[in-house]
Amino acid sequence: MSTTTCLQIEEIHRKPSTFHRKIFSETTPKPLVTTTVKEEVITQTPLQAKQRVLLLKAAREQYTLVDDHHVPSILHPGEFLVKVLAIGLNPIDWKGPAFNFGIPSLPWINGRDLAGLVLQVPNESSRLRVGDIVLVPSTDYRDIRKAAFQEYAIATDFNAARIPSSTSIHASASLGVAFVAAALALGVSFGVDFSRLTQSPGPNLVNVISTLDKKNIPVDIQDEIFAISSESDRPQPGDWVAIWGASTTTGLVALQLAKLAGLRVICVADVARHGAKLLQSGADLLVDRRDTERAVEIIRGVTGGKLRYAIDIVGKETAMLLERTLDPPNNAHLLGLTGLPKDRVPGISYHTVPIKLFHTAPAVGESLVTWLESLLQSGVLTLPEIIRAEGGLEGINAALDVLRSGEASGKRIVVDLESHS
Ligand SMILES: NC(=O)c1ccc[n+]([C@@H]2O[C@H](COP(=O)([O-])OP(=O)(O)OC[C@H]3O[C@@H](n4cnc5c(N)ncnc54)[C@H](OP(=O)(O)O)[C@@H]3O)[C@@H](O)[C@H]2O)c1
Repeated sequence: MSTTTCLQIEEIHRKPSTFHRKIFSETTPKPLVTTTVKEEVITQTPLQAKQRVLLLKAAREQYTLVDDHHVPSILHPGEFLVKVLAIGLNPIDWKGPAFNFGIPSLPWINGRDLAGLVLQVPNESSRLRVGDIVLVPSTDYRDIRKAAFQEYAIATDFNAARIPSSTSIHASASLGVAFVAAALALGVSFGVDFSRLTQSPGPNLVNVISTLDKKNIPVDIQDEIFAISSESDRPQPGDWVAIWGASTTTGLVALQLAKLAGLRVICVADVARHGAKLLQSGADLLVDRRDTERAVEIIRGVTGGKLRYAIDIVGKETAMLLERTLDPPNNAHLLGLTGLPKDRVPGISYHTVPIKLFHTAPAVGESLVTWLESLLQSGVLTLPEIIRAEGGLEGINAALDVLRSGEASGKRIVVDLESHS
């Protein structure tokens, strides 16, 4: 990549943004090293390039800002370098350190959702171009190069969705993991066919999976992704699905995807707080989350006791409540994003979302990000409401305290890095 190439791209890039011009002028002069891996030309950043990152040095500690961390290098085909512009905060960003899980080693860099500017691409045939603004759900948290809490990150082209110029970069930064989790929960675990949508059709993930070589799929998700055994097991338009925790970012995306697929959706949430937003997103029935016994009765009553699909996005206790709304003789499915009941009821299939499929199966990853691009382009998907946090990387500890306190109440906190670059 030469300075000339970047300046040309600057010309055609989103004209209204003086900010993007600033990034280009700051980032282009860096010298680059080119190597060849598996016949693909890989451009690497020089090892001496330094950046600011937020490091987790020990469990149950706050993150520490470090200003001399190396800029990660492109190592594998399909990878690209991105300058991080905005970071969407997920509950795992505080839960992981607080409860000491999801941290491969220490010190570590966390962060699961970012939006950024593509600085280097793997080759000219890449779906992405230098200068694209992308959102990246960084589900591959074991690869520290891909973490969001840093100024520069590596991502893989089949895990990045281009953000249209009409769409907010910050709101997009909040969407990725929620979208991937919701799409895999519905499309893989339950088998919803998104290819029949009239507006912005998506993938039939059951078909995509049938093309995968089983030996390339991580063993711990194989049962989950091959769980759908027959067509009659898959939700059909008109079927009910209940979502407990529908006001979560993941719930809100799941609601919208389910509606696009023609399902009828029961949303359990704080109706006074979130009812209007959920109705706007297509909810067919709102059930208040405060009186849990009444909520179970309402769901059973409205579905005639025949409910077959339920997603819990809150925890084990609410998953147990949802379990009671299902109809086991009718082959029911319960998916828990944050826990499932310990004891199993015959006739209910229990699911966890196979999130790592997104980064381990290129065909799945690419089908999801290209669908997401089309959903954003068409404006079909309503993005989460966000709270913009200032302070750059340094502000993340304080922003995570707000998230942890519950004050954000369904809004995604997005940390702005651009005014701190
Ligand atoms: N396994 C995975 O791969 C995966 C992927 C994505 C997410 N997750 C998990 O899914 C959960 C949700 O994530 P998220 O990022 O979507 O969450 P989020 O947007 O931060 O969720 C916040 C929302 O949760 C609601 N809530 C809290 N307690 C509730 C309850 N008892 N019943 C109903 N709603 C309740 C809050 O509603 P109020 O305003 O009424 O308090 C608020 O609207 C997290 O635990 C996350 O770790 C897992």
